[in-house]
Amino acid sequence: MKIATLGKGRIGGGLADLWEKAGHEVTRLGREGGDVSGADAVLIAVPGASVPQALNAVTGLEGKTVIDATNVVRSSPPEGFASNAEYIKSRTRGATAKSFNVNFAALFDQIAHASSRPGNLWCGDEEAREVVEQLNRDAGYEPIHAGGLENAALQEGFLGLWFAIVQSGMGPFFYRMAPPDRF
Ligand SMILES: NC(=O)c1ccc[n+]([C@@H]2O[C@H](COP(=O)([O-])OP(=O)(O)OC[C@H]3O[C@@H](n4cnc5c(N)ncnc54)[C@H](OP(=O)(O)O)[C@@H]3O)[C@@H](O)[C@H]2O)c1
Repeated sequence: MKIATLGKGRIGGGLADLWEKAGHEVTRLGREGGDVSGADAVLIAVPGASVPQALNAVTGLEGKTVIDATNVVRSSPPEGFASNAEYIKSRTRGATAKSFNVNFAALFDQIAHASSRPGNLWCGDEEAREVVEQLNRDAGYEPIHAGGLENAALQEGFLGLWFAIVQSGMGPFFYRMAPPDRF
């Protein structure tokens, strides 16, 4: 798959490394932006409050399948939108998924050594399922589906609980969710 990452830091760069190892062709864009018209999938991995500005610097986004990994830390989604993911869809008008926002980039190099495959949440458009689930598996995660894009605000809101778990003493962690017969 041809993938463009908007953001090439811990999440954008870290996933780009994992996806390249899995055989994908990845173009990494920083704040200078660029053209993504040749990409099959676009990952958004910039600071949550910078999404509108970041999208302004990119051409070729129209109709693209997008995975939004942003979190809104000490900020809110753009006015009129419940989530960054829904805002992004309003800009691209393509299939959109929220994923990779509920994990730790610091653990990317440990995924392959985990005794069982860690889970990773995603929600979003059914049209994005094939791409987002493949890119989850190719990064080493088992995708956990959390419904449609209308649930993106819930997934973004998970961050408060996430930090509470980290700060309660566990530190960065993997998670899994599965029915009892698969746990
Ligand atoms: N780190 C994690 O474990 C983690 C986990 C889940 C979700 N997230 C979320 O993922 C997103 C990225 O986090 P990160 O940890 O990867 O951040 P990071 O390491 O600081 O990287 C941020 C990237 O965004 C780019 N950027 C910054 N401001 C921009 C702007 N105004 N326009 C366009 N690009 C801009 C930077 O560009 P330059 O390279 O040009 O500076 C850099 O490539 C955030 O929304 C964060 O909340 C992070």
